[in-house]
Amino acid sequence: MKSLVVLSTFLFSISSFAADAAKGKNLYSRCISCHGNNGEGIESQNAPRIGGQHDWYIYSSLVAFKTGERKNPEMMPFIKNLSDSDFQDLAAYISTLKN
Ligand code: HEC
Repeated sequence: MKSLVVLSTFLFSISSFAADAAKGKNLYSRCISCHGNNGEGIESQNAPRIGGQHDWYIYSSLVAFKTGERKNPEMMPFIKNLSDSDFQDLAAYISTLKN
């Protein structure tokens, strides 16, 4: 089990190396209305700060929302059609935001 975790962490670090932050920036346009231009979060939307968060945490959150492991009905329409590589690109971009 432990080696599985190590292996998947390893695979994710390889794939996050290939993530495209420029593509992520484009995709992020659909997130701004709730999370803000710099990922600072918008309280009236209940949307937390995500800018500057670790890429692996952003990525794993998006996967958990899409699979329903974490419930987020507000966000679902905005992520349900995105692919795994879209999530990696988003995570790469959002982790670079400063706020
Ligand atoms: C309609 C508003 C809305 C939109 C649009 C939206 N989000 Fe969210 N997001 C939320 C809310 C509300 C939460 C808090 C959910 C919870 O309680 O866990 C959240 C949580 C998150 C989290 C988890 C933060 C944490 O600390 O656990 C991430 C990552 C995230 N959003 C990324 C995105 C990305 C990337 C997009 C665009 C593809 C996006 N969101 C679009 C409302 C939105």
